[in-house]
This record gives sequence, structure tokens and C-alpha cells, in this order.
Amino acid sequence: MMNYKIAIVPGDGIGPEVIGQTIRVLDKVGEKFGHKFEYTEVLAGGCAIDASGTCLPQETIDTCRASDAVLLGAVGGWKWDTLPGSERPEMALLGLRKELGLFANLRPALLFEDLAEACPLKAEIVEGGLDIVVVRELTGGIYFGEKGTKDTDMGLAAYDVEQYAEEEVRRIAEVAFDMAMKRNKKVTSVDKANVLESSRLWRRVVAEVGEKYPEVELNNLYIDNAAMQMVRNPKQFDVIVTSNIFGDILSDEASMITGSIGMLPSASLATGNFGMYEPVHGSAPDIAGKDMANPMATILSSAMMLRYTFGLSDEADAVESAVKKVLADGYRTSDIAKEGENAIGTVKTGDLIVEAI
Ligand code: NAD
Ligand code: IPM
Ligand code: MN
Repeated sequence: MMNYKIAIVPGDGIGPEVIGQTIRVLDKVGEKFGHKFEYTEVLAGGCAIDASGTCLPQETIDTCRASDAVLLGAVGGWKWDTLPGSERPEMALLGLRKELGLFANLRPALLFEDLAEACPLKAEIVEGGLDIVVVRELTGGIYFGEKGTKDTDMGLAAYDVEQYAEEEVRRIAEVAFDMAMKRNKKVTSVDKANVLESSRLWRRVVAEVGEKYPEVELNNLYIDNAAMQMVRNPKQFDVIVTSNIFGDILSDEASMITGSIGMLPSASLATGNFGMYEPVHGSAPDIAGKDMANPMATILSSAMMLRYTFGLSDEADAVESAVKKVLADGYRTSDIAKEGENAIGTVKTGDLIVEAI
């Protein structure tokens, strides 16, 4: 029997609720396929601030490093919104990504057939389905550039610097092209090269990497146009590669096209097999504690963990098929339910997925 060590970071708000259902699903996978998943729960985010005064305790980083993979819920919430920037719960997430070298964030936006009616776009725009992967650079750019405040003749100014080094762009572009080779061989690089110096470097390096992949078609789009194309004709996209901040925004936009942000999983990968798996959504304080959160994004993130870090593709398929079956049977949490339709809760969704595995 194989033993897999998983660090569990439930976090805040709906984080513990969606993580709870995901662990039940993993336990069922372990039982069915004969694996042992060993969980170590650690604190990060607002709950860690409350417990220890810091959003990312060293013990959390050490436990994540000593594990085969990390599964994270979400961090943040109203309670901590007035803290100074460097002390906010969100810093735990950025700290983990940086400390663990997770530079490549894969955010697959897949429109499940049975959810077509939950997509807010006209049926003909998404007819035949939708299958996009946003490859988001995760440890560079404006999130990690120099920041500060200074006095100016317009009053106090605050700044955050967007900066990319060639090597940072090269390695994320390689992830995107490798991914495109296994898919429909199309990469769209999204930048703002008409204005930003960092985007001009980005575009040049992506083109250089692209020369090594002659079979892959490379297109460049400016972020403003890309955001518009995403709702005008999302089927034109296969793999989108973009910077940290543009990827953050575009992936939320892509998530809604698939029905709800409660559906979108993600994998944050380092070189090698190590990864942190997290839903694209946040801690949703507006619905926390109400058994309303859709756990599918986190459950599908655990399927990505089974596939990418553990190499367990049959097990990943089983989880994804179970999610599809629950949707096909007509069960939906309120974020994807039709108007007037009875919605089911977080725990019931977990029950049904466990049962379907
Ligand atoms: P959010 O993603 O938490 O919520 C946006 C909207 O989507 C809300 O109306 C929420 O109820 C809904 N929603 C989100 N996830 C859902 C789910 N699983 N099921 C059903 N509905 C869902 O974004 P926000 O409101 O901008 O941010 C709230 C907090 O979360 C902030 O503190 C933010 O910094 C943090 N955040 C954390 C992460 C993360 O930890 N990965 C990601 C995004 C935001
Ligand atoms: C995400 C989140 C985070 C980000 C925040 C909470 C720091 O929005 O994972 O998409 O911007 O990366
Ligand atoms: Mn985001």
C-alpha cells in the first residue's frame, strides 16, 4: 500500500467546509484503490493570526515542505481586512507560493455538459463545450515587486512594481507550451506590451520559447482585448499564458463562464512533482458557516493532486467522473442551481460524490 503525505491548510471562511468534504472524498479513493493518505493539518491565514499572531507560522512552511503535496482551502475575511498589508491573511498564501517555489499555476476552466445552462453566455457561444487552461505565473510580477509609499506633490503616493526577469518568463512559457502539446497545440500569451516594458520582455521571451515548439500556434493578445474575447468567443482559447495579476483576473472571468467560481480547481506547481492544490475561489465570508459553499472546486483540485503529484490518473478520473455524475443527476449547490430549483448544501454534495466513487 502506498502512503501519501498531504499537508492540509483549511484556512478561513468556507475553507474548512470545502476541505472537510474533500478529505472524505480522498478517504473514499484511498479505500477503493488501496492507498493511504496521511493528513497533517496546519494553520495559515486569519486563523493563524488569531492563534499565533502571524499569518504563516514557520511550522506550517516546514510541514508543507515535508509533505508530498499541499491541499489548501482559502484564506482571508472581513475580520482581518483592516490589518496593515504585510500582516494580512493573504500574505500567507503568497508566502507559501514563494517559499515552496510554486511558480506555475494551472487553472483549467472546463464547462461540464450538464452545467451548460449555468453559463451566463448565450448557448451558441459555448456550444460543444469549453476547455481552457489558464497558465498563470505565480511567484513574480507586481505581487512580489518592490512596494512602498512616498510623499509627492499630489500627496502621499503608494506604489507596487511590476517586474519580470527573462528566466521567470521562460519557465512559465515552457509549462504552457508543454501543456499545449498535450492538448490542442494553441498558446495565447496575454500581456500589455503596448504600454508596459515588462510585457515587452514577456512577449519577446515567450516568442523565443515558442520557436522550440514549431507545432504550437502562438498568438499574443493585450489583456483588455483578452478579457473581451473571453466573453465574446471563449472557444478560441486552448492554453492561455499570462502574468500573475492578469492570470488572477482572467481566471475568475473564465470560472464564471463554466457556471460558477465554485467549480474551478487549480494546481500550483514547482519544478518536479511537488504542488499545492487550491480552489480558485476565496473564503467567501458572505456564505461561510451556512453549508452553502460548493465544494467541487476543491474536490476537483484534489483530483489534480492525484494526477499531477501522485501520478494516480485512474483515481483522478474516478473523482472527476463522480463530480460529473452528481451534476448529471441534477444535484446543485445554490451557486449553480437554476432559479427556483432546490439547492443542496456542502455536506450533501460531499455525500453524493463519495457515494458515486
Ligand atoms: P470569493 O471568491 O471568496 O467570493 C466571491 C463570490 O463568490 C462571493 O459571493 C462568494 O459567496 C462566491 N463564492 C466563492 N466561492 C464559492 C463557492 N465555493 N461556492 C459558492 N459560492 C462561492 O472572493 P472575495 O469575496 O473577493 O474574497 C473574499 C476573501 O477571500 C478575501 O479576504 C480575499 O482576499 C480572499 N481570497 C482568498 C483566496 C485564496 O485563499 N485562494 C482567493 C480569492 C480571495
Ligand atoms: C487567488 C487569490 C489570491 C491571488 C489572493 C487571495 C492573494 O485571489 O488565488 O486567485 O490574488 O493570487
Ligand atoms: Mn483570485
